[in-house]
Amino acid sequence: MSSIFLPPPTQQIHSNIIESAGVEISVLRLDLMHPWVNGNKWYKLKYNLLEAKARNFTTLLTFGGAYSNHIFATAAAGKLFGLQTIGVIRGEETLPLNPTLSFALEQGMQLVYMNRTSYKQRNSPELQAELRERYGEVFIIPEGGCNLNGVLGCTEILQQAENFDIVCVACGTGTTFAGILLSLIPQQKGIAFPVLKNGEFLQQEIETLLQNYLAADLPVSNKSVCAWELICNYHFGGYAKVNDELLKFSQQFQQIYGIPLDYVYTAKMFYGVMDLLQQGFFSKGDRILLIHTGGLQGNLGIQQKTDKFKT
Ligand SMILES: Cc1ncc(COP(=O)(O)O)c(C=O)c1O
Repeated sequence: MSSIFLPPPTQQIHSNIIESAGVEISVLRLDLMHPWVNGNKWYKLKYNLLEAKARNFTTLLTFGGAYSNHIFATAAAGKLFGLQTIGVIRGEETLPLNPTLSFALEQGMQLVYMNRTSYKQRNSPELQAELRERYGEVFIIPEGGCNLNGVLGCTEILQQAENFDIVCVACGTGTTFAGILLSLIPQQKGIAFPVLKNGEFLQQEIETLLQNYLAADLPVSNKSVCAWELICNYHFGGYAKVNDELLKFSQQFQQIYGIPLDYVYTAKMFYGVMDLLQQGFFSKGDRILLIHTGGLQGNLGIQQKTDKFKT
């Protein structure tokens, strides 16, 4: 199943800011694994797909917003691995469809729109029973792939854990970060950058994911989780919010390092790391690994709806 994916390269980046801080920065390019099912998405989907197949399900059903990377990747993964897909989309249908949903439809995903009040109940057994009544025996993957299968997949993101001291990742639900933490050794440290406003609540969510994972006795290289922290002040106004400074940063970053960033997740984390470097947050000699979690498909949609791109 994994054979269609390219091994993600690690790329060291250099600049005066990095050199004056006395640190080493490398980027793990999960965005380069596959054109559509890339980034953390593949890792969060992998064990969900395997479980669905092992239990003879033929259809996946999942949830997401209209620009969701998870919807995009689930539609493509379903097609690649021979499973039908249903995407329950938050809110009303807007025509013409944006690039994310057009792509999902082209991959054969059935799109179902749900009003925002009902959508809030997406994890409730009652709503899920209703969906099963309507769509038959579907394998339900939560929004963003946020379940223990998702965490398990993310424990496989880091292959060479010994080569760095600190790992940084953008954080939405915390699933990816939890998986990464479970694969680090106690001497290492994880830092997550929530991309939504008031992301402090993720502290508890991540602790719960870690506890549930360990209680479920799933594979783990180290039962004592290393030090970790959330840095919550690089959300730029909230989920999918961008401003001129962030846009300029992403454009310059791509020009200097040749690495494209998505505005919703990775740009905020990379901005945060570069800013913290200048504030002397890291110690001299730190080897820092930044995870590029993909999500570049979302830029098209953001560019369409944001006036800032219109010249
Ligand atoms: C590109 C990208 N980076 C980071 C994240 C954050 O992942 P998580 O929800 O597991 O915290 C997401 C959301 O899945 C994403 O699409």
